[in-house]
Amino acid sequence: MTVLELLRNRRAVRNYTNEKIERKKIELLLEAATLAPNDRMREPWNFYIIQEEAKLRYEKLALEFLEERFPTKPSLIKSSLDVVRNTPLIIIVTSDIASNDADSKDNEYAVCCAIHSMWLQAQELDLGFVWRTRGVGLVHDSRSFDFIGSPEGKKVIGTLFIGHPSQNALNQQKEKVRTSFEDKTIWMER
Ligand SMILES: Cc1cc2nc3c(=O)[nH]c(=O)nc-3n(C[C@H](O)[C@H](O)[C@H](O)COP(=O)(O)O)c2cc1C
Repeated sequence: MTVLELLRNRRAVRNYTNEKIERKKIELLLEAATLAPNDRMREPWNFYIIQEEAKLRYEKLALEFLEERFPTKPSLIKSSLDVVRNTPLIIIVTSDIASNDADSKDNEYAVCCAIHSMWLQAQELDLGFVWRTRGVGLVHDSRSFDFIGSPEGKKVIGTLFIGHPSQNALNQQKEKVRTSFEDKTIWMER
């Protein structure tokens, strides 16, 4: 497969079977992440693997968040919580906060590259994968940071939901049409 084909085929996959993810596959995702480009080899990433007991704790946290955020929407709370329950593996990814803003930003960019590498690796392993920030992704809520033990000098960048794709997810998969690069590119001639 060419790189372009790989990139074209990558999809956000949000529905999974309850099959556990093999340790070896998780390790391959993590290895792919660590190969990402990063400024001055600061390797500014850490990964928190959430399964089983830890995932039950994450579910509790998500419920707390949902009840607070949507007090009048019980069906939304239920469907959002089901998303967490039906995801066998969650990985929280952090970025190191550096001594200055520029380096901190560069660290975040590197972590984004690492997450994209994991996404592509997941595809090769036939794993469904989505990077969530909103809602039960909890990236914009301090609860996710507390959940991982409030590690000093780190910031949560992404919560990755991963599982073997359900048949439904495979049937529903469709390419999202992208705007051509021609409409997004300015060829600076001077
Ligand atoms: C930084 C970032 C945050 C995202 N947050 C969410 C999210 O909170 N919930 C969600 O369902 N998908 C989320 N996504 C996935 C996007 O919705 C998805 O990539 C987009 O719709 C394009 O679809 P595709 O990945 O299948 O091409 C996020 C993606 C990125 C890169």
